[in-house]
Amino acid sequence: MSPTPSALAFVPFVSVDNMMKIVHSIGLNEVLKEMVGYIEHDFRRWELFDKTPRVASHSKEGVIELMPTSDGEVYGFKYVNGHPKNMSEGFQTVTAFGVLARVDNGYPVLFSEMTILTALRTAATSAMAAKYLAPKGARTMAMIGNGAQCEFQALAFQAVLGIDTVQIYDIDPQATEKAARNLADSGLKVIKCSTPHEAIEGAEIITTCTADKQYATILTDNMVGPGVHINAIGGDCPGKTELHRDILLRSDIFVEYPEQTRIEGEIQQLADDHQVTELWEVVSGTAKGRSSEGQITLFDSVGFAIEDFSALRYVRDQLSRTGFFTELDMVADPDDPRDLHGMLRRAQ
Ligand SMILES: NC(=O)c1ccc[n+]([C@@H]2O[C@H](COP(=O)([O-])OP(=O)(O)OC[C@H]3O[C@@H](n4cnc5c(N)ncnc54)[C@H](O)[C@@H]3O)[C@@H](O)[C@H]2O)c1
Repeated sequence: MSPTPSALAFVPFVSVDNMMKIVHSIGLNEVLKEMVGYIEHDFRRWELFDKTPRVASHSKEGVIELMPTSDGEVYGFKYVNGHPKNMSEGFQTVTAFGVLARVDNGYPVLFSEMTILTALRTAATSAMAAKYLAPKGARTMAMIGNGAQCEFQALAFQAVLGIDTVQIYDIDPQATEKAARNLADSGLKVIKCSTPHEAIEGAEIITTCTADKQYATILTDNMVGPGVHINAIGGDCPGKTELHRDILLRSDIFVEYPEQTRIEGEIQQLADDHQVTELWEVVSGTAKGRSSEGQITLFDSVGFAIEDFSALRYVRDQLSRTGFFTELDMVADPDDPRDLHGMLRRAQ
């Protein structure tokens, strides 16, 4: 008779279905706000984490990345892809899954879908950065690029910053229609725009969230007035940017992990020693965020492993709160830890 798995064999698994149940049982706005708290907590203890630029495998179609980190007690990583051409072929641009494990014995403690979770953590990270960088009292956000991430961004800025208006634009009007439809009952005033210029008119915050595998110019220099906050998400790979270089030269630039952002972010267009501020220093109070009304602040976001670690930590903490998970028979666990072969033989 086949041996039955022991308790040590089972690892909690959050499927897509259960991730959606977790979000709905807590409420999307609440999840976004709570996740900001988790990310902020980890940014405050940034220095103790293991950090490395993500391991990227590039192809002409896209990229597949592994994003590892550890706080000394828990290790985490995310598998994520980025394929801008996918959408036209019926696939998503970004999909992901992730793992948390115990550092002391290496056993996994959580497997989770992370396609939805990446959208949540990216929106939460953007909103967290904007708390420190956006002009006080900002109420209007321009949202350029109305794909998978768009509504999550808008809702996070509403929940965390209190924006009440979002001006949306995409080169594909169907994407804008989709976003407007999904945001119709959000309480946000949603203005569909037919040019990027219209979208940024009067906006204190400009989010660029497009997908195109090239040095794109979503914003030109003359489009960006003094005092705005730019939340640039879509430029996140070598040769894939969204902003004209001149905007960078007029902005105070805030980044996650410079070693990774210099390879992947908007600042790949600048000299390697161009001055940037690390966001964790702003969050922990050792560097200034926005310091004047006229300043242009730029969050050059590429997505860093610690944000995924925070998001996975958040999900782990919701397992007992919501009960929405299953257990996977994931770790082969022989009665005698050395007798792996015997376990296989007895299963014959
Ligand atoms: N920084 C991060 O942490 C992070 C996290 C997730 C995704 N991303 C990046 O964000 C981007 C958006 O992701 P997504 O999942 O929403 O992708 P998506 O493919 O679902 O949506 C992208 C949208 O951009 C639009 N677009 C392309 N070129 C445009 C242009 N010139 N002007 C206006 N709109 C344009 C497309 O029509 C599409 O609707 C991707 O580049 C992705 O790699 C970054």
